[in-house]
Amino acid sequence: MSETSLPFNDRVFPGKALKEEWEKSIKKPQEFWAEKAKAIDWFRTWDKVLDDSNPPFYKWFKGGVLNISYNALDRHLETPRKNALAYIWEGENGEVRTFTYYQLYREVNKLAKVFKNVGLKKGDRVAVYLPMIPELPITLLATARLGGVHMVVFSGFSAEALADRINDCEAKILVTSDGAYRRGKIVTLKDTADRALAATPTVEKVVVVKRTGQTVPMKEGRDVYYHDALAKVEANAFVPPEPMEATEPLFILYTSGTTGKPKGVQHGVGGYLVWGYWTLKWGFNPNDKDIWWCTADVGWITGHTYNVYAPLAMGITSLIFEGTPDYPAQDRWWEIIERHGVTILYTTPTAIRMFRKFGEEWINKHDISSLRLLGTVGEPINPEAWKWYYRVIGKEKLAIIDTWWQTETGGFMIAPLPGIELVPLKPGSATNPLPSIQAEVYDEKGQPTPTGTKGFLVIKTPWPGMMETLWKDPERYKQTYFGRWPNIYYTGDYAVKDPDGYFWLLGRADEVLKVAGHRIGTVELESALVSHPSVSEAAVMGKEDPVKGEVPVAFVTLRNGFSPSEELRADLIKHIRNTIGPIATPDAIIIVNKLPKTRSGKIMRRLLKAVLVGAALGDVSTLEDEASVEDIKATYEELKRQLEKK
Ligand code: WT7
Repeated sequence: MSETSLPFNDRVFPGKALKEEWEKSIKKPQEFWAEKAKAIDWFRTWDKVLDDSNPPFYKWFKGGVLNISYNALDRHLETPRKNALAYIWEGENGEVRTFTYYQLYREVNKLAKVFKNVGLKKGDRVAVYLPMIPELPITLLATARLGGVHMVVFSGFSAEALADRINDCEAKILVTSDGAYRRGKIVTLKDTADRALAATPTVEKVVVVKRTGQTVPMKEGRDVYYHDALAKVEANAFVPPEPMEATEPLFILYTSGTTGKPKGVQHGVGGYLVWGYWTLKWGFNPNDKDIWWCTADVGWITGHTYNVYAPLAMGITSLIFEGTPDYPAQDRWWEIIERHGVTILYTTPTAIRMFRKFGEEWINKHDISSLRLLGTVGEPINPEAWKWYYRVIGKEKLAIIDTWWQTETGGFMIAPLPGIELVPLKPGSATNPLPSIQAEVYDEKGQPTPTGTKGFLVIKTPWPGMMETLWKDPERYKQTYFGRWPNIYYTGDYAVKDPDGYFWLLGRADEVLKVAGHRIGTVELESALVSHPSVSEAAVMGKEDPVKGEVPVAFVTLRNGFSPSEELRADLIKHIRNTIGPIATPDAIIIVNKLPKTRSGKIMRRLLKAVLVGAALGDVSTLEDEASVEDIKATYEELKRQLEKK
């Protein structure tokens, strides 16, 4: 299917309006954003739209004062949206809870009162370890109302990962739940939290949401049940929204990088909100009649921006779902879409590939004609998956909004923008940069690559949604993102630009894997492996996977006194689940006698990868500079033999 055969490509314009808007944003950024920021309620107008006097520490809307919970809630109370639904939540067990904007406002105020009563102050950190239940966005909003800084840890991370993050940001409060449902089974979240809490001296209070209802240990003086605490404050409690400087921190979200230590990406209040609002408007243009379903967990940036702040600031209705796509049956999502009348579905390539595998019959059982727009995020979408999404879910009528962005960027960066003008789509391309985004593809030397040549995706100028810094580590922020080419934002992604100027995203260019859209650092996995008493050395790499995009595979060598066995392999997997979390579980652990090394002693990853994917040795001829050809050949054959034996 060529792009011109997509029916809606006859109905779209060639990009004139988009170009005009983009050019306006580049030529006059201050005026452009001063105008856009009017969509947000400010307690005090900014002095300067962009203070770029100390790059790369950019300050957007400097001097402006606002509160994000006020923008998400209070301001709608004077409008007809007061009694409209902010959230429709569906539990894994089929339970449904709804919140109007007014109901959400009351709940958030009560929790904010609880936080206030236990001494939470502006700037204090609140750690959040919750499943996808309404209390998750409520906790974020209550924290932000008081000027606190939230730090959410996805519930698929381990006790050790949770403790590390809590300690890095010195959180004062932890909000968690007794348990979580996963495929009908109860996951004991509080037990995991307790194991983390044994090593987190800064946490003074633990608020426990009752979700599954089983008895869990509660530590006297430290732990309180959410519903008990809320019952103790007035039903109409009101906590004034704390006036926040636009540049003060709103949240920290840890994400994997190229070292063993996750990075605490810090976002501020003002620029982040303006960017979230406008990117959602441009990308999906939701209105009062829409039911917006972004399937991401609030444990990730996608959930922060597009399940909490942007949709609430716009006053639209969002659906949030606790469960997994195939429980109790493989049509769960389509059944939900039909029952709630979902109009916009924003999900991941992994989910799309999984549904494709399940088969079309599951979708065809349902009337999903309420859908009017589709979106995707998190990893490159292969043209086959794109076309399947377009044909089977979109019935060859709906546009697909492929949004490229990152935890660090706060919101969409490259995407089709029907909210301005829908350009012709090409299956697999995220199309063009958003207004204000000057994206380019660089070669190794920092020169723009010729059209059609792969290189590193960079962003040349600041934008409102960009992170402010890495938590308490400005030097690492500068080094990681602006160190390669001064004042140029390095994304860590490969990309290529086609003759129409469209961007095609080609995956990570660094030691980061995208496993089912989740970001996992290979170095983190390697550190976890070598922390096991049996492991001497480890090399982790991604292997292509038809559903998850890629999966981690680990090569390890053992210390003296240990020998390979199924038990040991299982133990290593358990060890990774305990140190990082179930989401990082390797697909295979390959125990070898020796890892191939270069002359200078570095592990030859490319050779390992070639062995792994069964590439012919000819393909690894580029390794010649790393070792002698004979050595490479011999190692390759030896590893292949070892692999075949398994
Ligand atoms: C990395 C960022 C963006 C929110 C969820 C992930 C990859 C993301 C796309 C896309 C190709 C994509 C990139 C990026 N990625 N969206 N539409 N096409 N690749 O956020 O965990 O910070 O990961 O996800 O490699 O660098 P994240």
